[in-house]
Order: sequence, then C-alpha cells, then structure tokens
Amino acid sequence: MAQRISIKDAKNHVDEEVEIGVWLTDKRSSGKIAFLQLRDGTAFFQGVVRKNDVSEEVFQIAKNLHQESSFWVTGTIHEDSRSHFGYEIQISDIKPVGDSEDFPITPKEHGIEFLLDHRHLWLRSRRPFAIMQIRNEMIRATYEFFNNEGFIKMDPPILTGSAPEGTTELFETEYFDKQAYLSQSGQLYMEAGAMAFGKVFSFGPTFRAEKSKTRRHLTEFWMIEPEMAFMHQEESLKIQERYIAYLVQSVIDNCAYELKLLDRDVDQLKKYTKLPYPRISYDEAIEMLQKNGFDSKWGDDFGSPEETFISDQFDQPVFVLNYPKAIKPFYMKPAEDRDDVYVCADLLAPEGYGEIIGGSEREVDYDKLYAEIEKKGLNMPDYEWYLDLRKYGSVPHSGFGLGLERAVTWICKLDHLREAIPFPRMINRLKP
Ligand code: 4AD
Ligand code: MG
Repeated sequence: MAQRISIKDAKNHVDEEVEIGVWLTDKRSSGKIAFLQLRDGTAFFQGVVRKNDVSEEVFQIAKNLHQESSFWVTGTIHEDSRSHFGYEIQISDIKPVGDSEDFPITPKEHGIEFLLDHRHLWLRSRRPFAIMQIRNEMIRATYEFFNNEGFIKMDPPILTGSAPEGTTELFETEYFDKQAYLSQSGQLYMEAGAMAFGKVFSFGPTFRAEKSKTRRHLTEFWMIEPEMAFMHQEESLKIQERYIAYLVQSVIDNCAYELKLLDRDVDQLKKYTKLPYPRISYDEAIEMLQKNGFDSKWGDDFGSPEETFISDQFDQPVFVLNYPKAIKPFYMKPAEDRDDVYVCADLLAPEGYGEIIGGSEREVDYDKLYAEIEKKGLNMPDYEWYLDLRKYGSVPHSGFGLGLERAVTWICKLDHLREAIPFPRMINRLKP
C-alpha cells in the first residue's frame, strides 16, 4: 500500500508511490490530461492525471471534481521545477470523500468584505494559509526564545477588575452580581509573577473597545507580555531587540515557502536581524515631526501618520524613548533627571508599520504608585493587591508587550491587521 504523506513532505518521497488526503482548489482539463491544483493544509501543489495512465472511471472523476471537494489521491511524486512548490504528483487513483458544490470563493477577485464574511472558508486560500503559517512560526519562536532565556510562561486572567491601560477602552461584562472587565493587558498580574518567578512571559488574548476603524486596531488581539524582576529598562530594551531579531530570523529560516507565496522581500527582512536597533527620544521625535511639516506639540501622542513618518526615517525598527507622563499609564517609573517623562519606550516597525511594542520600567515605590493611582482617578480597592507588590520586597523591574498581529502584519507586509488573525474582531465584525 502507498505510504500516506503530507504535501509538505513530498520532497522526501520523489519517485515513490504515496497517498495524500487533499482538497481541490482549481483544475484545468482537456481530452487527454487533467491538471488538479491540490492542497492539504501543509502546502499547495499540482496533480496530473493522464487519460492513458488511469482507468476511464478515474479520468472521469478527475474531470468532474468540484472546487473544494475532498478526496484521496494516490500517485508518484516528481520534481517540477516550473512550479512554485517544486514538486507535483502523477496521479494513478482518486477516491472521493466529500463533495462540494458552488464554493463561494472562486479564483476570480472578491472584495474584502465578502472575503471577511466568508472567513471560515477564506482561510483555505493561499494567502491566509501563508500568513497563518508565519503567525504559527512566530508563536513557536516566542516560546523557544523565552524558554531559552530562562523565562517561565505564566497565564494572567482574562476576567479582571482592573484597567491597566486606561478606562476608556474597556469591555465590561456581568460577573454574577458584580461588574468585570475583559483583560486589556496581563501586565499587572505578570508583575506579581515576576516577583514570584523572576522572569515570566504571557501569551494570550487581550481586549480593547476601540471605536476607531483603523488598519492597526482590533478589539481582540493577542499579546506577548514578558516581565523581569531585578531588571532596569536598558536590559529590557536589549531583550526586546534580540526577541524581534529572533522572530524575524525564525520566519526567514522556517517559512521560505510562505514568504514566497506572499512575495515578501527576504533581503529586506534580513536587515531587521542586525542589532542594535536605533533609538531616539520622544523629544527628538517631536522635533523631527515639526521640521517636516507636522503640527505636533510636545505632549501630544502620536497617531498613525506620525508613527509612520518616524519609522520611515529608519530602515530598522526604532525605539522611541521617554514619552511624556500625561500620555502613558500610571504604573511607569518617571525618569531620574526629569519629572515630566517616563522610563519607557515604544518600538516602531519599519516600512511604515508603527508601534509593535510598548514597554517600560515600573514604579516600585509604594507611596509614589499610590499617588499616581489616585491622580488617575482609579478605584483604589481594585489596586490594593497590586500595591502589595511594593510592600513586600519591591525590586526594580521592567517589562513590555508585543502585539502579535502588529508583528505578523509587518513581517508579512500586509495592509491591515484583519488578515493577521484567523477570525478578526473589529467594531463592526463579530461574525464568523
Ligand atoms: O502599548 P500597549 O497598550 O501596552 C500595554 O498593554 C502594556 N501593558 C504592555 C506591557 O508593558 N506589558 O500595548 C502593547 C502592544 C502595542 O505595542 C501593540 O503592538 C499592541 O499591543 N496593541 C494592539 N494590537 C492590535 N489592536 C489593538 N487595538 C492594539 N492595542 C495595542
Ligand atoms: Mg502603546
């Protein structure tokens, strides 16, 4: 009996007879030959059915297969230097499994709203396939990187009573007779984790009721949040840049096929593995914007156009350091030499992608932190446990958050975050 393989493994089975479970993405046929475009979830390649090599019945089955019908193919793997994938299968037998009629996503062009409405089916196409494989590689590389660096993975809760990133973008939900929020960030819990385990990282969904429709905002996105005890911001920045370079290198090493499917320029990506990354201060960024016709004032937060402009001035990711206190959250540590900025940094991705990481050193002094929570008008009883961390052996600590979809969007060079997550959630989209 033929060995069962996946398409991805075809290169290890040249001239062997194999069996593969597949779906049909497209086909062409004439009187004597049928070309079947096949996929099995690991890759896409071509199957060739020659009338002279198979029974009349099998040839008729091949000619009448519908798009997205599923079947077993048996055949022999050959090199095919003309194709993208490099191999094809010479088919000797086909066993139908599930039929498919009038698959809504045809090889013609479709509008983005139509595709998003059919996301459950669109995921089968080449482009989503490539993006999700790269996303998966980035998740794999994240665990590998932080495990190698001696971090432990810790899972913060999703249902919470605190609002680390401000109270305007909270999703509220009933929690028995109380009110709870969906987590905006696991950070405060990760700080507790750092005091217990030294170096921790989380990877989980976070929620923000973003009412704006931008190509950089989802209401549900996945964040990686490392937090390190006994660590100042400088060392955290070094970890951040090594982590980003590691993600990029892992994708280059393990996703050559997917990058090719997306037409992503690999030489461009290679530049992002060179360290260190450039750094500028928020003050310098404001000056740069003012010199170039933006009417930004000191104290303003950056929107997409500002971030895009700044990142366009560099051909690597760039750290913007020390933002004004008024535009960042309460938990950050003020700079030593001046009281109007925090010891914090955002990492802006090149090619105009904007912020992918936000991070800072944390305030460690009980009284100062208490005063900040009060000043921001937050409900003190919700933060008592967090303040405890400053009562019992408080130490310098730092951390950061990488938005996975932002990083995937940049590495895959997509136009919009909605393609970087399997089922995007945006202000007008809760389905499918
Ligand atoms: O800059 P943010 O708000 O920082 C925090 O949440 C910190 N508590 C992280 C930490 O220090 N542990 O968010 C971090 C990152 C951003 O840099 C961005 O990449 C991503 O999360 N992000 C979003 N991604 C998609 N959609 C949104 N609405 C996002 N908001 C933030
Ligand atoms: Mg931020």
